[in-house]
Amino acid sequence: MANWTPVGPAADVPESCQQACSASEHSVVVFRIDGQLHAIENLCPHAGLPLEDGEREGMVLTCPYHGFAFNLRTGANVDDPHDAPVRTLPARENNGQIEVDLDALKD
Ligand code: FES
Repeated sequence: MANWTPVGPAADVPESCQQACSASEHSVVVFRIDGQLHAIENLCPHAGLPLEDGEREGMVLTCPYHGFAFNLRTGANVDDPHDAPVRTLPARENNGQIEVDLDALKD
């Protein structure tokens, strides 16, 4: 069962923007790309540093610390698919709010 959790107004994430948000005890980053919302955990699997200031090109986000790059749809490390992925979450817009499904972060 999904655990849809509001993380902020949809207006705060216009097209081509990324925004760090708190969701319960988690930090996530929400993106709007080609009208679609995407969300990842704000935690690089390499060394546990935040991804919110990473540079995005298309569907790929590059960590600002050591340059690991992740596919925002799948979470996969684009340079080494066998390396740990970043965790992704379903995201949606509901009544003017962005919501993410925190069930995706259950261990
Ligand atoms: S902490 Fe992200 S690449 Fe090292």
